[in-house]
Amino acid sequence: TIDKKYIDFFINVSSKAALASSYFVGKKNKNAADQAAVDSMRAELNKINMNGKVVIGEGILDEAPMLYTGELLGNKNGPEFDIAVDPVEGTNFVANNLPGAISVIAMAEKGNLFNAPETYMDKIATGKVDKGLIDLDFPLKKNISNLADFMNKDISSITACIMDRARHKSIIDELKSLNVKVKLITDGDVLGAVYVSNPKYNVDIFLGIGGGPEGVLAASALDAYNCHFQGRFIFDNDKDINEARKMGIIDLNKKYELNEIVKGDSIFCATGITSSDVLSGIEIKDKNYISETLVTHKDSDFKKIIKRVNIIKGWFLSQVKSGMKKKLTKI
Ligand code: FBP
Repeated sequence: TIDKKYIDFFINVSSKAALASSYFVGKKNKNAADQAAVDSMRAELNKINMNGKVVIGEGILDEAPMLYTGELLGNKNGPEFDIAVDPVEGTNFVANNLPGAISVIAMAEKGNLFNAPETYMDKIATGKVDKGLIDLDFPLKKNISNLADFMNKDISSITACIMDRARHKSIIDELKSLNVKVKLITDGDVLGAVYVSNPKYNVDIFLGIGGGPEGVLAASALDAYNCHFQGRFIFDNDKDINEARKMGIIDLNKKYELNEIVKGDSIFCATGITSSDVLSGIEIKDKNYISETLVTHKDSDFKKIIKRVNIIKGWFLSQVKSGMKKKLTKI
């Protein structure tokens, strides 16, 4: 079990990363928005009493100098954790001032969070359903009709969320012919999957191909809600296949169940950068900022949206501003 005190520490990490990135909302600069959140997240994580290790981060060391996979984080005084980060999920949303950007972090005890390769993942997620009812290997029609029966709904009132991508054309066409309500998202499939956690978001099933790391992050949130999630990585080139083998993945076609992706206790925090159906974005008022964070802690069954008013500390503000200036001059 992860001590509850870490909930607070991790809310602080995702909130500050969201704040750092929020200075770049609408600035048409995805990289700067991401870098600001990465810098902040790394600095804050290093203050925590823990021996953390990044299992999902910004990429391999050669490509990412910070928050790379395998990087050790924390002040080395404390328990060992696996950490998955997506400092800005929805970089296009930040760059273009669109709804749905979040800063995300998840953690579990050492060895309990899947070390996901940087490839695509085929995903399916629903709320809590009977075992064997919904499966990545079932035809789409079977999943939809099973879900409709289970929810005692007509197929025409089932809503399926999927990313608006050419690769999903045949699925979207079939959903249309089944008369399912389609909710297309342009980016941000962590939130897309999280929609199934609560009926208030009006999404019954999330499906389709998105980032593998995003799949692990979504799974850790959905675990706390006892939702159903399955994922299968897609390895379609030699580079990815070699990476996967190096990571110890033997069966490249394996379908992962939620409890193989996230084991034991976990904490998930997602703070809104720009507003969405789930979270309000960062709001800056004088020397304060208001953040909203979706927080889950599996073992204590804690699932809440936490709204906080935080003081923007002088050093943080100047750090963010000087960082922003530096990066903006590079454009
Ligand atoms: P970034 O924030 O890193 O840009 O990712 C956004 C995202 O939409 C993810 O939510 C999703 O998993 C992935 O990109 C999909 O990738 P692609 O745009 O290649 O389909």
